[in-house]
This record gives sequence, structure tokens and C-alpha cells, in this order.
Amino acid sequence: MIQVSNLTKDYGARRAVDGLNFEARQGEITGFLGPNGAGKTTTMRILTGYMPPTDGTATVAGFDIVKESLEVRKRVGYLPETVPLYTEMTVFSYLKFMADLRHLPDVDNVVSETLDMVGLLDRADGFIGNLSKGMRQRVGLAQALLHRPEVLILDEPTIGLDPAQIIEVRNLIREIGRERTVLLSTHILSEAQQICDRILIINKGKIVAEDTPENLQASLAGAQRVQIILRGQADKAVEEISGLAGVQNVILQGEDRLEFQYDIQNDIRPNVVRAVIKAKLDMLEMRTASLSLEDIFLQLTKDDSAESEE
Ligand SMILES: Nc1ncnc2c1ncn2[C@@H]1O[C@H](COP(=O)(O)OP(=O)(O)OP(=O)(O)O)[C@@H](O)[C@H]1O
Ligand SMILES: [Mg+2]
Repeated sequence: MIQVSNLTKDYGARRAVDGLNFEARQGEITGFLGPNGAGKTTTMRILTGYMPPTDGTATVAGFDIVKESLEVRKRVGYLPETVPLYTEMTVFSYLKFMADLRHLPDVDNVVSETLDMVGLLDRADGFIGNLSKGMRQRVGLAQALLHRPEVLILDEPTIGLDPAQIIEVRNLIREIGRERTVLLSTHILSEAQQICDRILIINKGKIVAEDTPENLQASLAGAQRVQIILRGQADKAVEEISGLAGVQNVILQGEDRLEFQYDIQNDIRPNVVRAVIKAKLDMLEMRTASLSLEDIFLQLTKDDSAESEE
């Protein structure tokens, strides 16, 4: 279990994490989905006790991340964004070294069992430097699993892997996540959909949506997206159309067209036609398209402040 309350992190003047509140429950895989720079890694580093928050609190496996960080580290397995592996060590000796750092008993057995869990037993004596990226990622996972932590925090576990390896690593995560609390980050929507029990969409340090993949999908299935093409000057229709009950998210798309959404229960297309006429414009075309989860993700995470990453 992870409980996060008003978690905030500033890097100098930049607020990377902005008052996060969420829970990740045991037996569930919680996905942290967000674009580059959203604050995923920062949050994960704070939760693993590598860095203190500027404000707010969190508990991991029941322990406070600041006041009881040693207890937290005993119970958390962390796969960092870039796995720092020693290329000149063998898989076995590296994991043994990591297990010794954690003062685990019966190290040889622990390492063998862990290698078995991640499907790397036959590579135990190989040098890490000679492993493929996917296999290194497994070594990283093995390292995170050595002490059989109740909480796993995995930062982009499938990044850089080929499609076959992605599937393998996802299956592995689902398997090892069955009784644990897993928080994983990704910026790939389909990955979050496939692997996670719950999805938290994070953008600019804030959670902008939170639900099961099914509910996110269902709430979208209830919405219809429409594009209308006018004879020029579409901006003149924005006000009328935005004013219609049931219309949301009106977006001007170039001179002659705009897009918006409406609730499928309430077909407001006739009102749209009237609104266009009222704005003294000609409508050339009206197209409808169902919203995909992709659309919602883009909407929720679009950069509307015009401030960009340096
Ligand atoms: N050590 C640091 N010093 C200063 N700013 C930082 C530091 N680490 C991250 N940031 C800034 O904090 C914000 C959040 O970064 P973070 O790495 O948490 O995002 P992320 O969601 O993990 O992104 P990505 O998908 O690219 O990994 C960004 O604006 C980033 O530039
Ligand atoms: Mg990151």
C-alpha cells in the first residue's frame, strides 16, 4: 500500500510535483501515466526515500517516507529509470553484491530463486555487459525483487525493449505483482491499459484523471467528438457553440473548422446547426468520431501554457 498526501517537490523555482494525492493498493498494479516531464520519476524517487519532498507526506507499506525511510527501503523494490548495472560483473555476482548490501541471509539461494523468478537462471554466469537490453532490464527487476518487497516501484520498466521483450516483461510484472503493491510509470497509453488495474494520469505534477482502464474507456465511450467545417471564419462560431448546453471542449482547428464533444445521451447536433446559422455562417460538413483513450490522454495532458521544457 502506498498513500500519498499533498506531495510536492520543487527543484529551485520549478514545481515538478504539485500536491499529489493518491493511493496504490496491494494486489493491484497502479499505473502512473504521463508525458515527459510530468513528474513521474520525481514522485517515485521521493516514494523510495531517495529524496525528500518539499511538502506533503506519504507512507509506503505503512511507514513514513521521511521519518521512517529505512523501514521503507526494506519494504520497497525500486527499478530506477536508468538501471545502474556493473557491466564487468556476472549476473550472479552483481545480484549477490546487491543482496549483501541488503544484509540478506542465505544469499546464494536468494539470488538463484530470484533469477528463476525473472527467467534468467541460465544467464547467471554471463557478464552483464553481454546481455541484451531486455535481459538487463530483468536483472534490474531481479535486483528490485531480492528482498521480496511488498511494494514495487518500477520506473518505465519496458522502455527500450523490443515488442517481444515488452510482452515478456509485462507478463512478469503482472505475475510478481499479484500479491504486491506495484506502482509503475509509463508514457505509453496502451501499456497502461493492458497492464494496470488502475491508471493515474499525471501532467505537470498533478493528477488529471484516475480510474480503472475500463471506466476510463467507458466514460469516453459516452462522449462523441464532432468536427464541423464552415465556410471560413470558424472562430465566429466558437462563442455560439460553446454556449450550447452539453457541448464541451470546443477547439478551433484552423480557419474553417472546429471540434467539440458532446454527451451521447443528448444529441445536440440540430442545435449546432442552428448555432452556426445564428452566427451567420455556412456549414459545409459535420463529421463525428468516437473518442479514443488516446484523445482523452492528449486532451488531459496537452501543454496549454505554452511554457516548454528547456
Ligand atoms: N534533478 C533535477 N533538477 C532540476 N529539475 C529536475 C530534476 N529532475 C527533474 N527535474 C524537472 O522536474 C520535472 C519532472 O521531471 P521528472 O523526471 O519527474 O518527469 P517524468 O514524468 O519522469 O518524465 P519522463 O517521462 O521524461 O521520464 C521536469 O520539468 C524536469 O525537468
Ligand atoms: Mg521519468
